[in-house]
This record gives sequence, structure tokens and C-alpha cells, in this order.
Amino acid sequence: MFPIGLTEALDEQRTWIVPAGAVLPGDIGAEITALSAPDKPGEITVLPRPLRRPSRVIVAGTGDGDEAAWRVAGAAIVRALDDDEHARIAIPDGTSEDAVRGLAEGLWLAGYRYRDAPEPPRSGRIDLVGADHPAYARALAQAHATATATWLARDLTNTPSSVKNPAWFADQVVAEAATRPGMTVTVLAGDQLERFGGLRAVGAGSVSPPRFVELSWTPSGVTSPRHVVLVGKGITFDTGGISIKPRDGMKLMKKDMGGAAAVIAATLAAADLQLPVRVTALAPLAENAIGGSAFRPGDVITHYDGSTSENTNSDAEGRIVLADALAYAADRLQPDLVLNLATLTGANAVALGKRTAALYSPDDELAAALAAAGDAAGEKMWRLPLPGDYVEYLRSDIADRVSAPQGPGSVMAALFLRDFFGDATWAHLDMSAPSWAEAPDAELTKGATGWGARTLIRYLSTLPGQS
Ligand code: BES
Ligand code: MN
Ligand code: ZN
Repeated sequence: MFPIGLTEALDEQRTWIVPAGAVLPGDIGAEITALSAPDKPGEITVLPRPLRRPSRVIVAGTGDGDEAAWRVAGAAIVRALDDDEHARIAIPDGTSEDAVRGLAEGLWLAGYRYRDAPEPPRSGRIDLVGADHPAYARALAQAHATATATWLARDLTNTPSSVKNPAWFADQVVAEAATRPGMTVTVLAGDQLERFGGLRAVGAGSVSPPRFVELSWTPSGVTSPRHVVLVGKGITFDTGGISIKPRDGMKLMKKDMGGAAAVIAATLAAADLQLPVRVTALAPLAENAIGGSAFRPGDVITHYDGSTSENTNSDAEGRIVLADALAYAADRLQPDLVLNLATLTGANAVALGKRTAALYSPDDELAAALAAAGDAAGEKMWRLPLPGDYVEYLRSDIADRVSAPQGPGSVMAALFLRDFFGDATWAHLDMSAPSWAEAPDAELTKGATGWGARTLIRYLSTLPGQS
């Protein structure tokens, strides 16, 4: 990522960026006061100063000055800069640590570019000029970890599926973990997946066989830390399988591993931030392909916990691979908490539109805490119910349940998963809709949004070490 630093003074050689309402001395102060400055976050006014230094000043609206407003302002600022421009942003006295974190997140998140894009990455440097350095340094470090995670999640999701098969994805996790002390990673393949009947079934039609990745962060010096298990759907491409998708519904399905990308990225960030909680990310990785060896509608699948599902639509593959991962977590990891993230149903967007994930949890406290973390992080979610009277739709004549029951799509998928969480406190986020942006929008760039990484990092950062 391009550097953002802290410095003491505005430098005349650089582009200056000042928040609307900032008071600067001398000529520039008067010039700025004379402008009709924007006040909405995301609006900017550019003041060119030919033959003078600084040669331009950008005045940015920061609205009510809270973290979210500064995040939007940061996004607009970075888009106004040339790729190689060195800029200094004047931080007014009394600006909060949260606001600085929002600003830095906005700059980095909107300044993202896909790592294999033809356009090279931004090379300019941005310095923040202001007092209160210890608090601002902390804010910058948090924003850096969050943006690093989001960039990684976006890179993984934007990568074409011709490159991104399950083995490739697992290799990326291994390489990232290797750079961070305190992390371990295991990758299961082939015969090691014997008990993962759902993952094997979904991956059976592809020439690129499935993988199961377990990445964990263990803090040092914390006795019996709380253990959070994050599970993410990792379908590297979803054709729908034999229940094939129509062409419009298939064209973006390289993004069907966005949940896995977010949980991996957040776990790496837990290490970067040295959070005092134990975090394990589980990513069941498979390509849902079409072929002679693909699993069929009507097949009965035996999951990790020995229970069975009748596959009634091979396009409902996400819940089938997640079932194995959740059962594995319950059986092997003794989690205090399990959070599941998945691009699970098209119905998420039908209910909540393009930017809002569906949140499910039987636990009011956890649901409220996650929604609050999402709100603070800039990712929206809305809680939907788990109605007991719809459970009957899951009934199968030949297995413990069907995979694609009648009823409301996103809700039924959550009810399907509920069987596999064991006794842990849990929540599930259906993030199909907000995982992708059709056009740039504030801190989002076009393409993968990296949805979920920011919320998870915020949430994990609120947890105390001891369980
Ligand atoms: N990966 C899709 C869900 C999806 C759709 C994600 C659109 C992002 C954008 C998932 O595997 C799927 O196909 N779900 C089916 C479930 C149905 C067959 C019960 C769906 O939503 O139609
Ligand atoms: Mn599908
Ligand atoms: Zn899918």
C-alpha cells in the first residue's frame, strides 16, 4: 500500500489538503475563506495556485466530523490526487483519533487497485499534519491493518477463477501466514478430506480438487484466551453445477469465495494488531463445476458430523461445504464463538439491496455487537429472523434434510446451517450482495469490496483476552 505518515509541518512543495472550516494563517487562509467551501463529506473544491507554493489546495468537506464522514472525505481526497503526488493533509486541532482512523481508511480503501491491473499502483505519499501524535499513530496503525486486510480480500476476490482454484487460494494463505509470527496454517486435500462429504461432493465436478484451510492466530502471554472461529464460504467459481445457472447469474461467480477471503484476511489482521484473542479461520474451498463426475440433484451427502443432506439443487452448494466446516469446528476446536460469512443466496439482495448483508443469530447480544461493529467499520447489515415454523420445509424423505427447501431463500439457508453450529454462540452473515460494487462508491472501488474484513476486525478488537 502507498504510505500514509504523520509529520510536523505543512511543506510548501506539496499539495495541501485542508478540511472545510480549517483556519490557516496568511494569504492561503484568506484565499480559502473566500471560497464557497463544501461541507458535505465527499465533496471537494480544488484551488489552483499557479506559480505559487503550494501549487494547489484541495478543500474537503468533512460534514459532522465523525469517523464515517472522514472516511468518505478520505475517499474523495485520494481520487483527486495524481498517482504519484505527494500531499499533506492539515488535521485541525481537536480532531479525534476515530476521525483520523476514518480518514486513513478512506484514503487507503478508495486508493486500492487490483494487484494485477494494467494500471500500476499509486506511488504518492500522503502525510497527515497535526498534533496529538501518539493517538494518531495508533489510529494509523489500526487503519493500516484494516486496509491491508481489505486489499487482500479484494485481490483474492478479483482474481479470475482460471487462476484462483482451491490449491492456489490455499497457497496464498500459506504465503501470507509465513510472514507473521504466531500463526499456523494447515491445508487438507485428497484422502484427508474423507469426513468432509459435502466439500468432496461439491468439488467432484472440477478438475481442480477441493482444499480445506485452517489458519490460526494464537496470542502470546494470554492464558486461556477466548477462541473465535471464523468460517468463510470458499467457492472459487460457482457454475451452479448440474443445476446450472443462467448466463447473467453466472458471470460474477468468481466472487463466490468472498466469505473465505474476509475471514482469512481478518485473521491475518488479528496477528498484525496482536489482538489478545485466539482466532481460527476455516475455509472450505471448492469449484462448483459441471461435468461427468459432478454431484447430482437427488444425491445424498454425508457431512463431517455423520448427518445427511439430500441435494435438491446443486446450486445450493455453499451451505453444503459450510456444513462440514461448521461441524469440524464444533467437533475439533472448542470455540467460544463461531461467525460464518458467505455469499450464500441471491435472496440477500432481493430483501436488502446491494449494500446490506443479512445477519442471523439466536443471540441478541452478539447480533447487536456485530451490527455495531459493522456500523463503526462502514459495513451495513440487518438482522433477519430464524423462524422455527419454517424448519419443516427442510424435511427430506431420504436424508436428515434437503439442501434447497421452499421458503425465503436467505432465511432458509441460515436455518439449514443452524444444525451445524453445535453449542457455540453463533452468527451467520449472508454477504452475497455487498461483496461487489458495480461502480466506485465512497471508499469502495469497482469490483470486489472485501466485505466483512472490516467488520470482523472491529468486532475482534472489542473482545477482551480472557474467556
Ligand atoms: N453463490 C450463490 C449465491 C449468490 C447469488 C451470490 C448472487 C452472489 C450473487 C449461491 O451458491 C446460490 O446459487 N444460491 C442459490 C440457492 C438456491 C439454489 C436455493 C440462490 O440464491 O439462488
Ligand atoms: Mn450456487
Ligand atoms: Zn455459490
